[in-house]
Order: sequence, then structure tokens, then C-alpha cells
Amino acid sequence: MRVAVARVADFQPGERRIVRVGRRSIGVFRVGEKFYAINNHCPHMSGPLCLGRTLPHLSSSGPGDTRLAEDDTLLACPWHGWEYDLATGQSFLGPGEKPARALDVSVQSGHTVNEDAVMRFPDRVPGPYVAETFTVDVEDDYVIVDTRQGGTS
Ligand code: FES
Repeated sequence: MRVAVARVADFQPGERRIVRVGRRSIGVFRVGEKFYAINNHCPHMSGPLCLGRTLPHLSSSGPGDTRLAEDDTLLACPWHGWEYDLATGQSFLGPGEKPARALDVSVQSGHTVNEDAVMRFPDRVPGPYVAETFTVDVEDDYVIVDTRQGGTS
């Protein structure tokens, strides 16, 4: 199903819309000139994920060095603060989890790790959950969410 969410002109940078498509609740976010859509359902314990705050990815190589990647946005669930890549739905650690120990060889089922997310955030350890994301197109100045398949744009 393809759903027109809003006119681009009416959807300002930094704004979000939570829309209902059938039985689904979907959050549509505008970050700069990009649009993202993600299921309003936290895979951890079913929290209202899209009510959480967004934040740019922050990285540091050491004291005095901080870098903000404005194009890489994380969405923190309002219930327990687990962070998800807004573009892919990949989670990054839950609260209280110990840092993962680096191993030379690991075997993981394909659905638990998003290779793209690992490459986008090389200093973070992917968590066990992936929130559902949707493709967002802008057609004739309208923001369109496509729920027929998961998306990463
Ligand atoms: S329900 Fe979302 S982090 Fe727990």
C-alpha cells in the first residue's frame, strides 16, 4: 500500500508525523532533506518507538574529539532508551548491556545483524533487534510511504 503522508512543503525539517496505515502505526521523519519511515513499535518490549527523541550519531576517537554525523540519525525508544538507526531499524545496545567482546570469528543468523548498519556505525555494536522500516518517496511534492516492503532509504 502506498500512502501520501503530507506535502513536502508542509513537512518541515526536524518534523515527524505518526500515521495509521490499516492496523499499523508508522512514524515518518524528516531529517534535513531526507525522509524516513519506521514502524511505531519497539521490537524490545513494544514501546511507542516513534515518540522517542532523535539524535545525530555521535562518535569520538578519544578525549577532546567528538564528531556529529548529522546525516546518520538514531531514534531512542521512550520506554527504555534503546537506540535504532532511523534508516535501517537496526538497534544498538540496550541499557545495562555489557560491551560486546570482540571475537575473531562469529556465527550469527542473518536476520540478527544488518551489514549496512555495521558499516554505517563501525564504532557501535549491533543489538539483537531490528525495527521495521519502510521506503519513503517524494512524488510531485508529496511524501509517500510504501508499506509493501521494508526500506532503507
Ligand atoms: S520497549 Fe523500547 S526500549 Fe524497551
